[in-house]
Amino acid sequence: MKSSKLKLRSLRPEDEASFKNAVAAFKNEIPPFEFAFDFDESITFNEYINKLEGWSLGKGLPDKFVPNTFLVGVVDGQIVGRLSLRHRLNNFLEKIGGHIGYGVIQSCRQQGNATEMLKQALPICLSLGIGKVLITCDIDNLGSQKVIEKCGGIFENVTNDSQLKVQKRRYWIDIK
Ligand SMILES: CC(C)(COP(=O)(O)OP(=O)(O)OC[C@H]1O[C@@H](n2cnc3c(N)ncnc32)[C@H](O)[C@@H]1OP(=O)(O)O)[C@@H](O)C(=O)NCCC(=O)NCCS
Repeated sequence: MKSSKLKLRSLRPEDEASFKNAVAAFKNEIPPFEFAFDFDESITFNEYINKLEGWSLGKGLPDKFVPNTFLVGVVDGQIVGRLSLRHRLNNFLEKIGGHIGYGVIQSCRQQGNATEMLKQALPICLSLGIGKVLITCDIDNLGSQKVIEKCGGIFENVTNDSQLKVQKRRYWIDIK
């Protein structure tokens, strides 16, 4: 287990190469997983960092986005995953998306990294005034299910939404 070395933090200018490697590593993920929201070559990496900072303050948000904090899990200077923390729930997030989404690059999985990222995100939730955290995962995503349960997730229900190809398991973590 190498996860104790993991640090969950904001993206920094020196992460550019490592971040782009992580984005590339997720390109052919099945099912698809968006590692970096709204990231493309039309802006510089520093501009992207500024954009993320703006989102955390509710500025320049894409349509239907709520204020959110984008964090990366870093081990030995390399990004191994990312975690996105939504500051509040809207209708979609309450039913399907939850407060937190995360992903770990394939070569760094099953080493405790997602569990450690989620663990380190919980005090940040509290500092944002989120005492009860909703986290969801596809019903066939055993890895994510284990991550949520290891971090204290209490199962609430499975969605029943005709728009979804795969239904979601919904969990709450009470951190108050
Ligand atoms: C799901 C995901 C985040 C798990 O990341 P990870 O870093 O491998 O998770 P951890 O190492 O912390 O694993 C936690 C537990 O789940 C288990 N696990 C992880 N992946 C698993 C899998 N595919 N099948 C079964 N168990 C799995 C681990 O062995 C560990 O169990 P243990 O503590 O009993 O040994 C990662 O597979 C991923 O990024 N997948 C694609 C994106 C995604 O699905 N994100 C989640 C959206 S809700």
